Formats: sequence, C-alpha cells, structure tokens
Amino acid sequence: MTGSHALVTGGAGFIGSHLTRALLAEGRRVTVIDNLTVGRRGAVPDDARFVHGDIRDEAALRDALEGVDGVFHLAAQVTIRGSFDRFVEDLDTNVMGTARLLKALDPSRVRWFTLASSMAVYADADSPAPIDESHPTRPLSPYGVGKLAAEQVSAQILASRGIPFTAVRFFNTYGPGQTFTPYVGVLTIFITKLLRGEPITVFGDGEQQRDFIHVSDIVAGTMATPGKTPGCYNLGTGRGTSLNQLAELVLEALAPGQRPQHAPAHTGELRFSVANIDAARRALGFVPARSLDRDLQEVIAHIRAREGLAE
Ligand SMILES: NC(=O)c1ccc[n+]([C@@H]2O[C@H](COP(=O)([O-])OP(=O)(O)OC[C@H]3O[C@@H](n4cnc5c(N)ncnc54)[C@H](O)[C@@H]3O)[C@@H](O)[C@H]2O)c1
Repeated sequence: MTGSHALVTGGAGFIGSHLTRALLAEGRRVTVIDNLTVGRRGAVPDDARFVHGDIRDEAALRDALEGVDGVFHLAAQVTIRGSFDRFVEDLDTNVMGTARLLKALDPSRVRWFTLASSMAVYADADSPAPIDESHPTRPLSPYGVGKLAAEQVSAQILASRGIPFTAVRFFNTYGPGQTFTPYVGVLTIFITKLLRGEPITVFGDGEQQRDFIHVSDIVAGTMATPGKTPGCYNLGTGRGTSLNQLAELVLEALAPGQRPQHAPAHTGELRFSVANIDAARRALGFVPARSLDRDLQEVIAHIRAREGLAE
C-alpha cells in the first residue's frame, strides 16, 4: 500500500479517525468523506483532505474519490438497537450508500476495497466458544442485515470489476474517541454514566458475552488488508467477557460497592459474540496487542477529559 492514496469513508468517526491518523503516520495520503452526523470535523487531522459530504450523494463521492487508489469503507449508521427504530435510514446508508460508493468507483484506478463489517452479521451462537467466519450468517437486527447485504453486494460488484475485496468483521470496539450515545459502545456508556453519577444498567441476565477489542488493534488489522489475500476476516481478540464481568470491572474502578441495575434484554442482541481470529492471524498477520483490563484506566482518563472532569 506504500505511496497509496486511500479514501476513508466515515473518517471523522471513532474508528475512522484513528485509522486516518495511522495511515497518515505511515506517510500515506488520505481523503476522508463524512457527513458529520456522528463524526466531528476536529477528529480529522489537517493533513487529510476532508470532503464534508454524504456517501449517498454522487457528486460528493466523485469529489472524494479524486486520485484515490484504495478504499476503507467505514461510513455507516452504527447501532444495533437503534436500527429497529430507524431501519429505513439505517439501510439507506449502510446498503444503498455502499451501493452508490461501488457505482462511483473507477475500476481502472481503485486497486483494493476494504469494508468495515460487523459481528452483527452472525447467527447467535450456542456457547461462548469463539466463532469463525464459517459460522452461519443470520443477523438478528436490521443493522446486521444491512452489513451482510453490504458485504455481499460489494463482493459481487467488486469481483465483476476485478477489484480485490476484503470484509473485516469488527467485534465490540472500545478506546479513546468513541462517541457517547445511549446505544453504542457499552464500555463508553458505563464509564460515562458513572462519571456523571448515574447508575449503569445491564440488560438481560448479564451473562451474554462480547469480545472487546481496542481500536488500535482494529486499525492494525484493517490497515493490513490491502495487498493480502482478499476475503472475510473476524477482528476480535478471541476472548469473551460477560456484561456482568464488564460492569464489575468498571464499578470496581469508579464506584466500588455500587451494583448495576438490571432491565429486560433487547431484541436483536446476540447472546454470545466471541471471535475466532485464526484466519486473520494467518492471512493478515493479525495479533491483537491490547487487553481490556490493562486499558481500562486509559479509557476512563479519556472520557473524564471529554466530560471536562478533573482527575
Ligand atoms: N464500534 C464498534 O464496536 C463496531 C463494531 C462492528 C463494526 N463497526 C463498524 O465500524 C465502522 C466505524 O464505526 P464507528 O464505531 O467508528 O462509528 P462512528 O459512528 O463513530 O463512525 C461512523 C461515521 O460515519 C459517518 N456517517 C454516517 N452516515 C454517513 C453517510 N451517509 N455519509 C457519510 N458519512 C456518514 C458518521 O458521521 C461517523 O463519523 C462502521 O462501519 C461500523 O458499522 C463498529
């Protein structure tokens, strides 16, 4: 990928802005397109070219694709729960936005295309054992349906145009810069609420498991895709953490003695979502370096600063 000029869609968002910074740090040219519905202009470094636009807008896409020879497609409406209320907007961006982006590509220029997909494409698992990419895809939410459709249409269209395509299925990503919304990023939600003096809520019995992966590991796995064997790869750590364990970890750090509230489970949430990462290890050389318990204080410090709270 050396010397390449990458387009990062959604590059003003949580993962996209980290990816943009990492690409620039390696001396690559980067253009970002983002409509700033969630992302922030300030999260995009000055060294990147910024197109304030929507991936459903052909003119904005043409502008963003100028001179680009590879695409990291991260722009999306990112919420499993919210996708039940806003399924039309969600599918419009995540599926039709992807289709418009595919249509706008110049196959004579673009040499690779990597899509940020999600663990939400999978069917629920019977146990917390890590699942690999052959696990059935039977999404439980409109968000998962959209991500799977985006994967499939990208694979078909890009194959027909001779552009190598990789889908990276991110598991639960945490780290500095995650936007606080009531829906996305349970670690960010727990920490933010406790810092604001509010109780935290565990939905269901709390024994559902997630694979929490640091954003820098997600960025490393994603950046490794161009030029490697195209395909579909899980990016997680291979380790599961239950929501009860997560709540305990965060409460211990911020509100010892306090207990979480419990509320009924949500529709659309997987019970077990832990990644087998053997394929990414083999094909991309992917080795996650970070771990949740060691990173907790870093994330707390970032959210404290964002909330304007002193140490
Ligand atoms: N955060 C996670 O745990 C996680 C897990 C699995 C997959 N993913 C995927 O990773 C990618 C990045 O997620 P994130 O956590 O950084 O979310 P994010 O919401 O911070 O970033 C998404 C960005 O896309 C932009 N955007 C949304 N709709 C757009 C449109 N129509 N046109 C242009 N820009 C638009 C938003 O403004 C935002 O900056 C997404 O594709 C998401 O589905 C994230």
